[in-house]
Parts: sequence; C-alpha cells; structure tokens
Amino acid sequence: MCKSSRPNDSRPRIAVAGATGRVGSSLIASLVSEPLDLIALSRKPDAESVPSGVALAAVDFDVPSSLDDALRGVDRLFLAHGTSPRQVANEIALIDAAVAAGVGQIVKLSAMGPPSRLHPMDWHMQIEAHLATFDIGYTVLRPSTFVDILARAGGQVADDSWGGAAGEGLVNLIDTRDVADVARAALLDDAHPTAQRAYHLTGPRAVSMPEIAEEISKLLGRTITYQQRSAAEQREKLLAGGLNEFVADLLVGLDRLFHDSAFGETTSTVENLTGNAPRSVAGWLSENISKFRK
Ligand SMILES: NC(=O)c1ccc[n+]([C@@H]2O[C@H](COP(=O)([O-])OP(=O)(O)OC[C@H]3O[C@@H](n4cnc5c(N)ncnc54)[C@H](OP(=O)(O)O)[C@@H]3O)[C@@H](O)[C@H]2O)c1
Repeated sequence: MCKSSRPNDSRPRIAVAGATGRVGSSLIASLVSEPLDLIALSRKPDAESVPSGVALAAVDFDVPSSLDDALRGVDRLFLAHGTSPRQVANEIALIDAAVAAGVGQIVKLSAMGPPSRLHPMDWHMQIEAHLATFDIGYTVLRPSTFVDILARAGGQVADDSWGGAAGEGLVNLIDTRDVADVARAALLDDAHPTAQRAYHLTGPRAVSMPEIAEEISKLLGRTITYQQRSAAEQREKLLAGGLNEFVADLLVGLDRLFHDSAFGETTSTVENLTGNAPRSVAGWLSENISKFRK
C-alpha cells in the first residue's frame, strides 16, 4: 500500500509507527525532505495526514503478516503508539516484527516517570524490558508530559471550572515538536548504529498549575484560577464530565505524579541533541490561547 516514490536502495529506509499521531506527524514533516525512504505505518491506509512523497503501509495488529510486510527492508524504526490498553501487545508485536525483518535501530517513544503501577508508565516499563532482550541498536525517548495536554483544559478555563489534584507540584512540560526533533536526531545519527541508550526529555523549566493559570491570565487579560481538588474529588468531576473510568484514572494518576513533582526535573538533552533550546510553556500557551477563550 504505497502513496509514494520508489524505494532507493542506497538510501536509509525509515519506518514511522504512530505516524498520524502528535509526535509521529511532526517527525514525518521534518524528515520528508531528507534523502531517505520514509514509510508511515497506520491502521488507516487512506490516512490523509501523511504528506505526499511518503510511503504508507497499512498495519493491522491482529494480522501479524501486515507488520512483517510493512517492515520488510526497513533499516530504522520510530515506534510510537497512542495510549491504549492495546499498547503493550501492539508495540511488542512491532518490535518482534522489526527484529525479524532485520531492522538495526529502533527509536522508541516511552515516557518519563518513576517505576509505577500507573498507566502508561507500567506499560512502557514492560515494552522497554522487552526491547532490552534484543542485541540491536535502540534509543528510548522518555519525555515528560506533553504541553498539549493543557488543551484539554481549554473549555474548563473558558467557563472558569479548571482544576485538578496537582496541587503546587512542578512539571516540566515538553512540546511534542521538541520530542519529534530529538527522535529525528536519533534516527539520523549514523555514528552510533548499535548504541543502546535512553534520554530523558524536558522543557526548559518546571512550572506548577497555579503558575500556568497566571500565564493564561496574562494572555486572556482576566484572572484564571486552578481550583485545587483532592484526587477523589477530581475523579468524581471527570466521571461526571463524561469520561470513562480508564481515562479518568489515567488523568488522576497523572495529577498524582504532578503533585509529587515526579516530572519536575530539567534536562539539557533536547538542546544537546538538536542544537535548539526546548520550547517553553509560555510560548505554547501564546500560540494556542484561542483554545482557552470563552
Ligand atoms: N501525552 C503525554 O503527555 C505523553 C508524555 C510522555 C510520553 N507519552 C507517550 O507518547 C505516546 C503517544 O504519542 P503520541 O501522542 O504522538 O501518540 P498519539 O497521537 O496519541 O497516537 C499515535 C498513533 O498511534 C496509532 N495507534 C495504533 N494503534 C492504536 C491504538 N490501539 N490506540 C490508539 N492509537 C493507536 C494511531 O495511528 P493510526 O490511527 O494511524 O494507526 C495514532 O495516531 C504514548 O506512548 C505515551 O505514553 C505521552
């Protein structure tokens, strides 16, 4: 299933799983002009978000041969997967198919966080442990929380009901474009084809939810408050708002980690690997402030 140019044997062949997602689409956009053969993996073979010039491989995780077909001849794989109870099984299936196909390097999108029974940290621990059983090159990217989770608060900010159980905890939110830029650097690193490494990726500075409320207030010209709730109150609120238990528990778990400043560290990895300072929360808010207006 192809929407693209012919593969060229002298150029690296890079497959991107999760290509229609936040990080994957940014990565594809930045790789499309490089001298390589790019293949976007998607469950939707007519995915319109894949730019022209990129081959499109349809994958069905329930049909293992579709993974084998998609990865045949691939040199390097970027592995991202949306948050889902299928994540562990699907990522492990892709890793196994990649190893069987002779893929030499995998760049896996994981997540920062403590060893935990909370999703998705526990899932990533299982997938990383599986990856570690293979003697191939891999780079595990462990970003802190993506800044665009704030978009979820847009409607609540607009109607003055934003809040949660994060307290005054610090979180160093990262822009998904910076995660994609690091993935690009890792995929194009020809100097370390067999290296096995893990990078912790953060934004430039940790902030608390009340500080974010102040920043939004400045941009909107009115006072926005982050309403402090207990974890139980927040869970109730999320369920009452129509979220299912899986998503509510995921978000309350995240608040708990924010509360404990589990994503509060600052690393220089984005700048070291890309040459550019990571984008700030204030910058993202300014670009996206329309999401928070009434
Ligand atoms: N959100 C955060 O704050 C954060 C922070 C750190 C790490 N992470 C990690 O980043 C990863 C997500 O990356 P992302 O935000 O770029 O991904 P995303 O936009 O949520 O989704 C990536 C793609 O995964 C594919 N996918 C395949 N099977 C899926 C399934 N069963 N359910 C959902 N999607 C499926 C989808 O592509 P098709 O529909 O085209 O098949 C989707 O576009 C997760 O592993 C998460 O733990 C997230």
